[in-house]
Amino acid sequence: MCGIVGYLGDRQAYDILIKGLKRLEYRGYDSAGVAMIDEGDFRLFKCKGKVSDLEDNVGVKVNTGNVGIGHTRWATHGPPNDVNAHPHLSNDGSLVLIHNGIIENYASLKAELINRGHTFKSDTDTEVLVHFIEDIRDKTGANLFDAVRIALSEVIGAYAIVILDKSNPNQMIAARKSSPLVIGVGKDNEFFIASDATPIIEYTRNVVYLEDEEIARLDRTEGLKIVTISNQNKDPYVQELEMKLEAIEKGGYDSFMLKEIHEQPRSINDSIRGRMSLATGAVRMSGVDEHEDRWNKATRILIVACGTSWHAGLVAEYLFEEFARIPVEVEYASEFRYRNPVIYPTDVVIAISQSGETADTLAAIEMAKEKGAFIFGVCNVVGSSIARATHSGAYTHAGPEIGVASTKAFTAQVSVLYLLALSVAMHRGVMKQERLNRLMAELNSVPEKIAEVLKTNDAVKAIASIYKDSTNALYLGRGYSFPVALEGALKLKEISYIHAEGYPAAEMKHGPIALIDENMPVFVIATHGASYEKVVSNIQEVKARKGNIIAIVTEGDKVVKELADHVIEIPKSDDSLVPLISVIPLQLLSYHVAVMRGCNVDQPRNLAKSVTVE
Ligand code: F6R
Repeated sequence: MCGIVGYLGDRQAYDILIKGLKRLEYRGYDSAGVAMIDEGDFRLFKCKGKVSDLEDNVGVKVNTGNVGIGHTRWATHGPPNDVNAHPHLSNDGSLVLIHNGIIENYASLKAELINRGHTFKSDTDTEVLVHFIEDIRDKTGANLFDAVRIALSEVIGAYAIVILDKSNPNQMIAARKSSPLVIGVGKDNEFFIASDATPIIEYTRNVVYLEDEEIARLDRTEGLKIVTISNQNKDPYVQELEMKLEAIEKGGYDSFMLKEIHEQPRSINDSIRGRMSLATGAVRMSGVDEHEDRWNKATRILIVACGTSWHAGLVAEYLFEEFARIPVEVEYASEFRYRNPVIYPTDVVIAISQSGETADTLAAIEMAKEKGAFIFGVCNVVGSSIARATHSGAYTHAGPEIGVASTKAFTAQVSVLYLLALSVAMHRGVMKQERLNRLMAELNSVPEKIAEVLKTNDAVKAIASIYKDSTNALYLGRGYSFPVALEGALKLKEISYIHAEGYPAAEMKHGPIALIDENMPVFVIATHGASYEKVVSNIQEVKARKGNIIAIVTEGDKVVKELADHVIEIPKSDDSLVPLISVIPLQLLSYHVAVMRGCNVDQPRNLAKSVTVE
């Protein structure tokens, strides 16, 4: 949460900062701000609202300063307002800082600083940090680089920071712990810095990912220097970015969410390509092949994740139990880590995360690692904290997901987890080659089937227009479709603000059925498969109470068509692959409802893409 950007070079900083902030706005959009150094002083602009509000606020284009920092905020300490917006100044105004994360011991540091004569304007932990750094610099006589290092050794919490000293326009200091930072290295000591690579790629492809507890000094004459908090020198490891510029632009769509929904045939293909061969009948997951022993000896799989990634984990539970015959437990990372769970060294922990930065998932990994479990990551963001904290893993290759509501990341996760379950099943010798061949062929045809489903867009839009003013909605599914019901409900509530709940269809009669009346839309995944007849009975129960049924059915279905108010047909597939296909109309439906209600689908209220606080 919160987006950070910085520039140091020969160009005008302001335009680079604003453009960068727009790319990072998915990380938080409560307030925005920039600070540049001009003739020995800061030019500081900040306000509540989005980056476009900041631009309006600044008014005339500011063309001043070749060094600057910018921030877009997801509020933690203090409400979103002009004063709490970043950047924050130190007590004497000589330093300015932007921060992503939470300083947990800020209250005790603040009390100490107040005793020492500091006064604060905002409610933020960030302002405390910049005062603390100034205080250490003044107390010890250290230069800024050392003062930052000493201050951070006393800070508890998570941070990515960038700090400027107005008396030195040739230098920028940055540091990170549990929040991402990437440095772009241009020619002749030109530097860019950001929470992810998207603000950087059009200027340079050479990047250095800062590691936890590292502090970087970016200097126009002396170049890049990195030290650890314990003052060890580190050689910067410069890598080449593979990301394409088109991947982070809307490409003609009205929103990133719509673009990302439509990208799914491609993103699934990219996630499975090269990992299975229909010709040789082999699944190749290097994270299983290279750690065969850990997977073969595993007595249990624990899956940790949050939100949509947790739903992908639920699908994986069914897959692993069915294909690989290993018991699986799926855990909310936030609950798991605080429960003192029993973890054995023979456990395999799968951590699923699109961003690779989710604080709860990261903490759950660290805990399971300490207890000797083998940790496998399924992440979308290359080089992210979770990808680096795990023993092994598989990237999802969905490409950058910018819409806050997860769509293509979910289907990419399920596709990768599908191959993972097949691979583990083969290694453990519990799946016949014939079945593997059939399932691989079915998986291979999923992108084409999704392309077909995307053609139902207009029909889905028409259904959305009927139910857009609902205040509640229920989503039902059984077996593999239960996690999809949860995901459908989450998509609707997070972007349209309609209250929605997902339930296993059979659980409805144990309580939620009381909610059903003629105003309640009930979305049911009723595809042909193991529990089809049972779901038909659940539909009858809803109809008997005058609920409105919107059913997702298999092409050619007759029975549900008779009962339902609306049906959306999807191509036939193996039960285990239905989640990948049935989720598509539910994503489209949420999208259209939200647009019709005038909501910002890419940046829903109160949310942020990357949840780096616990
Ligand atoms: C919902 C959504 C969130 C995320 C959750 C975990 O659409 O996007 O629920 O799935 O915050 O994020 P990652 O996958 O980045 O760990």
